[in-house]
Amino acid sequence: MTDSLSAPARTGQRPILITGGAGFIGCNLADRLARDGHHVLVLDALARPGVERNLNWLRRTHPGRISAAIEDVRNDGAVAAAAREAQAVFHLAGQVAVTTSLADPWTDFAVNVEGTLRLLEALRRHNPGTPLIFASTNKVYGDLADVTIERAGDAWLPADPALRERGIGEERRLDFHTPYGCSKGAADQYVLDYARSFGAPTAVLRMSCIYGPHQMGTEDQGWVAHFLIRALAGQPITIFGDGRQVRDVLFVDDAVEAYVAAWRRIGSVRGQAFNLGGGPANAISLLQLVRHIEMLTGRPVETEFRGWRAGDQRYYVSDITRARRALGLKQPLPWRQGLDRLADWLRHNPPAADTTPFAAHSREQRAEAVS
Ligand SMILES: NC(=O)c1ccc[n+]([C@@H]2O[C@H](COP(=O)([O-])OP(=O)(O)OC[C@H]3O[C@@H](n4cnc5c(N)ncnc54)[C@H](O)[C@@H]3O)[C@@H](O)[C@H]2O)c1
Repeated sequence: MTDSLSAPARTGQRPILITGGAGFIGCNLADRLARDGHHVLVLDALARPGVERNLNWLRRTHPGRISAAIEDVRNDGAVAAAAREAQAVFHLAGQVAVTTSLADPWTDFAVNVEGTLRLLEALRRHNPGTPLIFASTNKVYGDLADVTIERAGDAWLPADPALRERGIGEERRLDFHTPYGCSKGAADQYVLDYARSFGAPTAVLRMSCIYGPHQMGTEDQGWVAHFLIRALAGQPITIFGDGRQVRDVLFVDDAVEAYVAAWRRIGSVRGQAFNLGGGPANAISLLQLVRHIEMLTGRPVETEFRGWRAGDQRYYVSDITRARRALGLKQPLPWRQGLDRLADWLRHNPPAADTTPFAAHSREQRAEAVS
């Protein structure tokens, strides 16, 4: 869709393309790059309810530095046009929820695999040598059912003390579970292989749980923000499983730092994948997060328990040693501080009613809401 937003920004530089740039991580990355003086081209289908607010915020905050193409990554022409002029590409657009992938595996495949291949091919044909950083996921390692875990109070932790101390490293074998795991995993492998087969300057960040401002967290994806949003509104939270599953959470500014560093250091990290999360120091269970939210809000959170969901890992914590070393990252923000920041942001920016799980508004309706 060509729209009034796609007028070139005024910086005169080649843009940095962020697919999914209206989304949670994408808009935080766009904000950072625009603050650094770059011209950012956001390509986003506004498939996720509520993200049009992020795009409006970006455009208000950085007049002249943000252009937008309200387009789908499945659209060859639009992807080629955007890729042709970019000086770097961050590929974050995607079908992001395991639940949705189970309901509609074809769309999940088309968006995540075909969309990624389209972008890689567009760069290979029209703009070779342009760095591309891809947003992958810890789901490429499967459910880790072979890792022996034991209960430690409100949390599941590995019985192996070394694993408990370091987390899951990149040497872990790939084991795609669920259509989402398969589609993101396939895309992850294509991105790495384009470095091998075609010498493309690509790299992959396999993220666990990123959280922070501008996240439209829902039951389907973005649980940290989702829990806080519900609790602040005095609404109950549904927990799938026993709530003792553990994740390492990373504040979005730290994730953005990693993306920028991967681009800047592409010469040394080309063709590599890195696990990116808060690491063992920021590993918490769902129940531990709920308790902390109760402290933050000063009132009890009502919880309801349902069965485990497909592919849900009892324990996943990233070993971030390689990422920190190769990308020169500082210690991640301690999770309690990050939670305070997110709670503060949410109090000032209460979510719109339409951020229900991947609900009903058409792309056209969302595009109209972009000012
Ligand atoms: N947030 C996390 O914790 C996390 C963890 C692991 C991986 N990831 C990956 O990181 C990326 C960004 O995640 P996020 O949390 O910012 O999600 P998000 O849903 O906020 O952002 C994704 C963006 O992609 C857009 N999009 C969806 N389908 C599209 C399509 N067909 N064409 C163009 N745009 C489309 C959406 O409108 C949205 O703005 C995703 O690829 C996700 O799989 C995120």
